[in-house]
Amino acid sequence: MLTIAVSKGRIYEEALPFLQQAGITPIDDPDKSRKLILQTTRDDVQLVIIRATDVPTFVEYGAADLGIAGKDVLLEHGAESLYEPLDLGIAGCRLMTAGPVGAAPVKGRLRVATKYVKTAQRYFADLGVQAEIIKLYGSMELAPLVGLADCIVDLVDTGNTLKANGLEPRELIANITSRLVVNKAAMKMKHQAIQALIDQFETTLAQR
Ligand code: ADP
Ligand code: PRP
Ligand code: MG
Repeated sequence: MLTIAVSKGRIYEEALPFLQQAGITPIDDPDKSRKLILQTTRDDVQLVIIRATDVPTFVEYGAADLGIAGKDVLLEHGAESLYEPLDLGIAGCRLMTAGPVGAAPVKGRLRVATKYVKTAQRYFADLGVQAEIIKLYGSMELAPLVGLADCIVDLVDTGNTLKANGLEPRELIANITSRLVVNKAAMKMKHQAIQALIDQFETTLAQR
């Protein structure tokens, strides 16, 4: 049995064509069902539906053999404990700093609101910028508006969320797409099945 960890929403939607071309169609729709384990049209493959940020954890501990996770999540989790054999090129966006339009440069310590605490710490440390990182779980764009932070580190796609909140994109930290990740032990123990799946996903990718 192969267990694949995916999150609901854009990753699930965009990963579906890859799964389907490998003969994996979930029996239940995760948006309608309350089930967290989805059986599929392949009786040797099941999906587990979890939060996007939990995917590396499930795969690292072998609770799932494979997973699909954003590079942002992998950077933050630390990916040394996982194999990352394939960039699926889905859920593309950018991890950026952003701040109020036309704001004056900050003197002294910069206050940064983000859910990407480790990534932000590493980014500002590498630049030699003194930064105080304030951990949030969402709605980062609000922080500069209410004086909680000078700027944010968050994902930007169309830029509409920034714009709607009077913010502008500043520096690019990383280009983000979603990756296939694999548990290291499973890669050895279930090598044939996993390699076949990677090959199939690569074929799908090449056809795009
Ligand atoms: P969450 O509930 O964690 O926000 P999402 O489905 O919104 O879950 O995000 C999952 C992944 O999709 C993120 O880790 C990121 O890689 C990518 N992503 C997030 N927001 C966007 C976006 N606006 N456009 C494209 N990709 C995105
Ligand atoms: C994501 C991200 C940004 C927004 C960027 O939020 O956290 O807020 O998309 O996209 P844009 O540049 O196209 O506006 P999402 O839509 O996932 O909502 P969430 O707060 O539920 O994560
Ligand atoms: Mg989101």
